[in-house]
Amino acid sequence: MYGIDILYTEHDHVVRFTNYLRKLCGEILMGEKPDKDTWLKCVDFIRVYADDHHHGKEEEILFTVMLEKLGSVAHKMINTGMLVEHNLARYHTQSLEEAVNALSEEPTLEEKLNLITHALSYVDLLQRHAHKENNVLFPFAARSLSPEDLEKVNEASKTFEEEGAKKGIGKYVDWLMEVYPDAVSEH
Ligand SMILES: [Fe+2]
Ligand SMILES: [Fe+2]
Repeated sequence: MYGIDILYTEHDHVVRFTNYLRKLCGEILMGEKPDKDTWLKCVDFIRVYADDHHHGKEEEILFTVMLEKLGSVAHKMINTGMLVEHNLARYHTQSLEEAVNALSEEPTLEEKLNLITHALSYVDLLQRHAHKENNVLFPFAARSLSPEDLEKVNEASKTFEEEGAKKGIGKYVDWLMEVYPDAVSEH
């Protein structure tokens, strides 16, 4: 099940990334000055890898097929659950980006608090979100979609990945492994 398996793998990366964000927040609490370039790279990872690439693939492919084929249970889980959380993640990302851009040369307590607040809100949301998809939504899709529909998901996911590779999506995972090599996987 290539199309669903790749989403599990991406969750490993997203959860690894959120653990890295927690580490950066811990360093600030221990007195380290936040490095603006590092935080800008984090915002870029969220926007390009976690949102455009990962949430984009879920929304365009798997969720679309589930909404078409799996009736009211899928509608409830996706429309009032997963999509609401994707949008909430976008709100936290926007707020985090504003907090990063507002960092001055010698960040004030207020500026650091804004950074930590929005970073940890994103971390908590994404960890719970990935856990729900891994343990409820993806298993439901895998056992409920027909083999033909799963094949459609696989094919569309392959095309999506090829497009992502052309745009250089691999560099985000390479960067993550470099800055945070020791994370534990979520599922
Ligand atoms: Fe999701
Ligand atoms: Fe996801």
